[in-house]
Amino acid sequence: MNKLFSLIFVLFFVNAAVSFDSCGVCVDFVDNSLNDLLNIILNSGVLGTCNALCSKVPGGQIVDTICNLACDAVGVDEFVKLISDVDPDPIYICEECKVCKTNNNAAATLELVQINPVNGTVGGTFTISIAYTVTNTIATGQLAFNIIDPTGNGFGDAVLLVQQTPEQYTQQFQFQATPSEQEAFPNGLYTLQAAVCEGSCGSPHPYTYTLANGTTTFTISGSDSSSMSGSFTGSSQSSATGAASGSGSGAALF
Ligand SMILES: *[C@@H]1O[C@H](CO)[C@@H](O)[C@H](O)[C@H]1NC(C)=O
Ligand SMILES: *[C@@H]1O[C@H](CO)[C@@H](O)[C@H](O)[C@H]1NC(C)=O
Repeated sequence: MNKLFSLIFVLFFVNAAVSFDSCGVCVDFVDNSLNDLLNIILNSGVLGTCNALCSKVPGGQIVDTICNLACDAVGVDEFVKLISDVDPDPIYICEECKVCKTNNNAAATLELVQINPVNGTVGGTFTISIAYTVTNTIATGQLAFNIIDPTGNGFGDAVLLVQQTPEQYTQQFQFQATPSEQEAFPNGLYTLQAAVCEGSCGSPHPYTYTLANGTTTFTISGSDSSSMSGSFTGSSQSSATGAASGSGSGAALF
């Protein structure tokens, strides 16, 4: 691609992203670039302008553009303060930077929290199905799940929800119960918790509250040892079904 064409292409793409889903782009940016931003802040001394900070973040033109957009909205000092928070929350940061909207009156109900199989084996694949109805628009939120194993250890995942209008939505997640250092998948009774939230589920920051939550239980028992070898594949994958808008947006905080 020649340089001018690629620049026009990038600007067009960024403009489209900024006008249609700048919120999702911002949350992904903070999620992915948080460590880079912290290192730059730590190692660079005084950063006088947003541009001085943002130009150092790896990731190219789109990252640079969304970084400047978010930072310029609050000024570099406040942006650095938000990023350096002990409990950084990408959704809250993008809300403070006016890239994501908030709604103090969002409402939703959970209709279904299901796992299949209910009695599974170590190494097996489990599918989580969640159905919920939004009754008052979620401005920026999450659909999240968390699994607590028989020893109290937990893991989970979440999808970002942006401007979800009143309607019924479904979402599926999948994980494989392959033992790893993070999760041993011991035999016994597991609890699956699901929640729909305005803001990041479990975040201590403003504009955040749980709209609905539900739990169900399932069991995992040992399979024969032949299928227990193999490396870690345990991070769950989410796939949006129906109209749920989802880009991966980090784990839920609950
Ligand atoms: C799962 O196992 C429990 C007891 O271990 C049993 O009561 C239940 O019916 C089983 N469910 C299914 C769907 O097999
Ligand atoms: C989950 O829902 C129950 C009522 O169904 C409620 O009492 C509880 O506070 C909720 N949990 C959270 C974290 O909102």
